[in-house]
Amino acid sequence: MVLPVVLDVDTGVDDACALLLAAMHPSLDLRAVTCVGGNAPVDAVVAHTLTVLDAAGRPDVVVARGAERPLLEAAVDARHVHGEDGMGDLDWARSSRCADPRHAVEVLRDTLLEAAAHGDSSSLVTLVPLAPLTNVALLLRTYPQVAAGLREIVFMGGAVEVGNATASAEFNVFHDPEAAAVVLDACADLAIPVTMYGLDVFYQPRVSLEQARLLVAAGGHGASELAGRLVEFQCQRFESTAATIGDAGAVCAVIEPGGVRAERLPVRVELAGTWSRGRTIVDRRDWGGDLSHDPHGQARSSIDVCLDVDAQRYATIWLDTVSGGMR
Ligand code: RIB
Ligand code: CA
Repeated sequence: MVLPVVLDVDTGVDDACALLLAAMHPSLDLRAVTCVGGNAPVDAVVAHTLTVLDAAGRPDVVVARGAERPLLEAAVDARHVHGEDGMGDLDWARSSRCADPRHAVEVLRDTLLEAAAHGDSSSLVTLVPLAPLTNVALLLRTYPQVAAGLREIVFMGGAVEVGNATASAEFNVFHDPEAAAVVLDACADLAIPVTMYGLDVFYQPRVSLEQARLLVAAGGHGASELAGRLVEFQCQRFESTAATIGDAGAVCAVIEPGGVRAERLPVRVELAGTWSRGRTIVDRRDWGGDLSHDPHGQARSSIDVCLDVDAQRYATIWLDTVSGGMR
C-alpha cells in the first residue's frame, strides 16, 4: 500500500535528506511539504525545499510557507550545523518555482480534510514533522477537525536521554517548546497516534564519506549528486568519515516501522525549567503505575517513543532510494 505523507520541514541539510527519500521512495505518496523557520529563516527553508524537490524530479509536490518564528520564543537558526545558507552552502542552483499562495496551515488543513473526505483508511495521511512544531500546533488548535484525515504523526524531536541544543533539550522542541506541548496535548485530545523519533535513535543511521562520494559521482545535478554533497558537507563540517541521515530516519520509520523499537510512554515537555526548558520528560518508571504519591501524576500524553533503531537498514533504505536503486 502506498502511504500518503506530508512533511513539515526546516530545510536544513538533514531535512533535505528526508525530502529526497520521501519524494522518491515508491511506498510513499508525498502530498505536500510545509515549511517553518528553524535551521534557517522560513524563506530560505522554502527556497531550499523547492530546490530539493526539483532535484528529486518532483516539482508537482505542493510547498507552502508557514510560521516565521516560534509561538513565544524569538527565532534562532542553526547555521553552526547547517552552514551559512542553512543547507550546506552547496552553491546548488536554486529552484525558479514559488511556494503555494496558501499559508502552510491552510495547505495542511486542505490536504487532511481532502483525505478525510475519501472516507477510506488508505487515504489517511501520515504527518511527518521534522522541525519545530509551530505549524502543527497552529493547525491542531485552529482546525481540530483535520484529525479525521490523519493516520498518525511521526515526528523527529525530543530525547529520552541527552539533548543537543542544550544539555537537556533537543533542537526542534527547544526552538518552540510551547508548540511541542500543544501538539502532544492536542493529539491526546484528538486521539491522534504519535511516534517520537528522538535523538536516542536520530544519530545512528549513518552514511560514509566513501558512499557519499559514489553518490556524487553520479553527477547530472540530480538527487544522487545532491544527496552525496549533503553528506560530504556534514563530514567536512564535523571532520568525520561518516554522517547521520538525521531527519531521513524518521521517514524510514514510516516506510519500515519494524526498523525501530518503540515503547508507549507518558511524555511531557518542560516549559519552565531554567536549565531544562524544552526537555521531553519521558516517564520510564516501571513500578505498576501507582501515582498516588506523585504530585505530578501521569502525563496526559502517552506516545510511542523510539528507543532503538536498525541503523544499517535505514541507511540502506536511504542510499538505495536516493541513488535511484528503488525505482
Ligand atoms: O535536533 C535535530 C533536529 O534539529 C533536526 O530536525 C535538524 O534538522 C534540526 O532541525
Ligand atoms: Ca529538521
